[in-house]
Amino acid sequence: MQAIQVGQAITVKWRGKPVFIRHRTPEDIKAAEAVPMSELPDPQTDQSRVKEGHDQWLVVIGICTHLGCIPLIRQGEFGGFFCPCHGSVYDTSGRIRRGPAPSNLTVPPYQFVSDTKIR
Ligand code: FES
Repeated sequence: MQAIQVGQAITVKWRGKPVFIRHRTPEDIKAAEAVPMSELPDPQTDQSRVKEGHDQWLVVIGICTHLGCIPLIRQGEFGGFFCPCHGSVYDTSGRIRRGPAPSNLTVPPYQFVSDTKIR
């Protein structure tokens, strides 16, 4: 993952689904951590959505939890993800913030096999 610069994201395929791997900036992380749980339709801490010690990496399935479109990366008012199909807005933790999607972008099962490699 060295190839993914800070602020960049890539999309990989996993079991036929797009998975976003995003190298978050310190601002992305700060913004995600600062959100009060009371503002989240599907409350989850940022910490619970990343791996300890690797919080610069956000790994989520790139499928909108509304009707399954593929959201755009780094778009929308929270700088996270935006699904233009019906206007769901996700934050830099992939949590739903506005729009019709009922839940956060799904974090798939993964682990770090080294500092630069995940499985
Ligand atoms: Fe994403 Fe409807 S499918 S907002």
